[in-house]
Amino acid sequence: MKLAVIGKPITHSKSPKIHQDFANQFDAKIEFRKDEVTPDTLEKWLADFFKHGGKGVSITLPLKEAALKYVDEISDRARLASSCNVIYAKDEKLFADCTDGYGLAKDLEENLKVSLKGKKILILGAGGAARGIIPSVIEKNPAKLKIANRTESKALLLMEDLEGKVNLKEKNIIFEAGDLSDDFLLDDSYDLVINSTSISTQAEESLGLPKALFLGTKLAYDLFYSDEKTVFMHEALENGAEKVSDGWGMLVEQGAESFRLWTNLIPDTSRLIEKPID
Ligand code: ATR
Repeated sequence: MKLAVIGKPITHSKSPKIHQDFANQFDAKIEFRKDEVTPDTLEKWLADFFKHGGKGVSITLPLKEAALKYVDEISDRARLASSCNVIYAKDEKLFADCTDGYGLAKDLEENLKVSLKGKKILILGAGGAARGIIPSVIEKNPAKLKIANRTESKALLLMEDLEGKVNLKEKNIIFEAGDLSDDFLLDDSYDLVINSTSISTQAEESLGLPKALFLGTKLAYDLFYSDEKTVFMHEALENGAEKVSDGWGMLVEQGAESFRLWTNLIPDTSRLIEKPID
């Protein structure tokens, strides 16, 4: 089975190793490529890959929105997120799906035992990573969801977009969007704070969050994974968060769900989650 992960940068992607681990569990033979692809080369790359027998592709930054243009069918979760992280061929058609939010919710609720129902949740950032996860967070019925972004207008746009697609009133979820000012951030306390900004990709960079933000926080979760704790995780711990986590578990769980879409097989994720690969 021909599989691949594409994006830019792509060199450090762990997807080939994760999927090889899944395939080994079933003695399945896979060939997993890692290709550097930009929005300009995406259409041709996809056409070539699927013409030559490709079955599935993991889509990473910066292709998650652009890739929706080149498929025949878009799943509900990808439509809600306006982005996809997986494409697969089935019945002569190309399908796009978004398994990022599923991966996050699974990691939070099953691996870290943090339920989202009735909780107050703060999401930092309003870019592609935030778009990918917010629909799944909403699905779990938190009491309150706030999106805070450096550029406030982007947070407001994201909220408007979601309000047009999901009936939040019916779900009884209070939804707010704002900037990273102390006024907006400290207006509430949060059970869960999720960092979806790209700050953790820049070593030693801090969002400059107010210290009081993490008082009462049960979990501070960074969507990015890294071998060392990120600056966001350090700051959260130092300022009162009970627990912190990076996004390794989410990466493995979204991968497992993508693997299921490609193969109809459900891999065991527990070993990989306990022991991240180098
Ligand atoms: P991604 O797809 O990874 O989310 P993106 O769409 O470029 O990437 O979004 C990056 C996010 O990180 C945005 O929310 C961005 O804030 P802006 O919308 O204001 O640009 C946020 N971000 C990046 N660097 C930041 C910084 N130094 N301080 C605060 N927010 C930052």
